[in-house]
Amino acid sequence: MTQQVATNVHWHDSEVTRDERTKCMNQTGGTIWFTGLSASGKSTIAVAVEQMLCQQGHPVYRLDGDNIRMGLNKNLGFSAEDRTENIRRIGEVCKLFADAGVVTLASFISPYAADRDAARAVHEEVGLKFIECYVEVPLEIAEERDPKGLYKKARAGEIKGFTGIDDPYEAPANAELVVNTGEQSLEESVASVLECLRAQGLYD
Ligand code: ADX
Repeated sequence: MTQQVATNVHWHDSEVTRDERTKCMNQTGGTIWFTGLSASGKSTIAVAVEQMLCQQGHPVYRLDGDNIRMGLNKNLGFSAEDRTENIRRIGEVCKLFADAGVVTLASFISPYAADRDAARAVHEEVGLKFIECYVEVPLEIAEERDPKGLYKKARAGEIKGFTGIDDPYEAPANAELVVNTGEQSLEESVASVLECLRAQGLYD
């Protein structure tokens, strides 16, 4: 748990209720959190879902590991502490987007279950949906895909602490949704995500 450092700060409530915002946005916001190994397909699925929702007129936004690490989180690396801080900040950002009424797609390796649970908790404690989607793939397939050549570098010892090679990945035990990109096509994965969003009331 990150401690509150600033003192003498006071929460200032909005005059806009969740219901009013839902009416204004014509939808309820929430977060779908894609977790999985590098090259599992998290970003590819999120991009396709984002495009589909946007084309249908739904306010949607995508937050992606590599991209966020080039901006908001550019001061973080890949130590366990930095990965935790990475996910803590993203969990808070997703909560803000979701609270604003946006369907928020987060794709981060997020290797630690406790960090993902913390991201879930900040949503659920204010009544926002958090859907965990495990993008499962056997390591061998992720390594075979290796779109950025990073597994190759990690195997050669040029990257230390690479997830799945010499750094841990804790698979979710109770994800709301599991898609297996080693077995399913992109279209099938996207269809299961949309079905899950619909079942959870974030898409119609
Ligand atoms: S997380 O572990 O903190 O959740 P995040 O999703 O933000 O990771 O970033 C992962 C991306 O960073 C990978 O897809 C890969 O492109 C890149 N990367 C660079 N170094 C590493 C590393 N040591 N472990 C995992 N990913 C890395």
